[in-house]
Amino acid sequence: MKLNRIIHGDVLAELKKLPTACAQSIIADPPYFNVLEDEAWDTQWKTAAHYLAWCEKWVGQAMRVLREDGLCFIFGQLGKREHTFLHLMSRLSQKHQFHDLIIWDRVVGYDERRDSFTPQYEMVLVLRKGEKPKFIKDAVRIPYDEATITKYLRDPRYKDKKARKAHLEAGKFATNILRIPSLKGNSKEKCGHPSQKPVNLIEKLILCATDKGDLVVDPFLGSGTTAAAAEKLQRKWLGIEKDSNYLKIARRRLKAPRPAKTPVAVKVKKTRKAS
Ligand SMILES: C[S@@+](CC[C@H](N)C(=O)[O-])C[C@H]1O[C@@H](n2cnc3c(N)ncnc32)[C@H](O)[C@@H]1O
Repeated sequence: MKLNRIIHGDVLAELKKLPTACAQSIIADPPYFNVLEDEAWDTQWKTAAHYLAWCEKWVGQAMRVLREDGLCFIFGQLGKREHTFLHLMSRLSQKHQFHDLIIWDRVVGYDERRDSFTPQYEMVLVLRKGEKPKFIKDAVRIPYDEATITKYLRDPRYKDKKARKAHLEAGKFATNILRIPSLKGNSKEKCGHPSQKPVNLIEKLILCATDKGDLVVDPFLGSGTTAAAAEKLQRKWLGIEKDSNYLKIARRRLKAPRPAKTPVAVKVKKTRKAS
């Protein structure tokens, strides 16, 4: 199977062609159902029931493609569609094994409601296939700043200062609330997709669920965020995208040199080109 490439096609047809249990992780950011009303890809279904039935189909295929020790991440959308995603989570958790619910705290609110608090988070449902998924907790630790380390080292309960320092310098375990700013309109990272995810958010998912060389499949590649993150972290990847304009955007993005300063410091041998 040729890897590190974008497959131009429909999610269901293309997932069906992939071998069973080939992917260590699936990162899926599907259409939301009538949230982006100007986007044809988000308004393809007559009713929520049609949308949910479609989701069950592609998730079924995605879970087939997932390895026994793999994790499947499925993004939901804040705001208007939140209740649809709740129905989806309930249905999927009855058919598949629920593993976790991650809250992506977007830091900045999305002001569309006058009758409620401003929505600021998105949910990410995590499904596992088998009982013992790969999860690398150490790969997503959050570093303490120097002042906090100095303060904690003063704690008299810890006699072995050297061991305590090493423990603190390793950072703390990340919670399932990921606080990462959503992309602003003028962000350098933006490449022309209305629902582009921040690359450092996708990096966290890749880092916790895969090792170098593992395969990550993104069934809705959009602007290529998962591919860009996978390249950087030396994972193999496959992305499916139906819209030829986004395909072009993703290809351009993957060929462009990466910025010198990146949020996660991992060395990359060379840039692979998307097919
Ligand atoms: C929420 S966006 C993904 C954005 C992506 N995570 C990023 O960071 O750029 C969903 C994508 O799914 C694509 N899509 C919609 N229906 C599809 C289908 N049936 N098969 C494949 N891709 C589809 C849309 O064109 C859109 O780019």
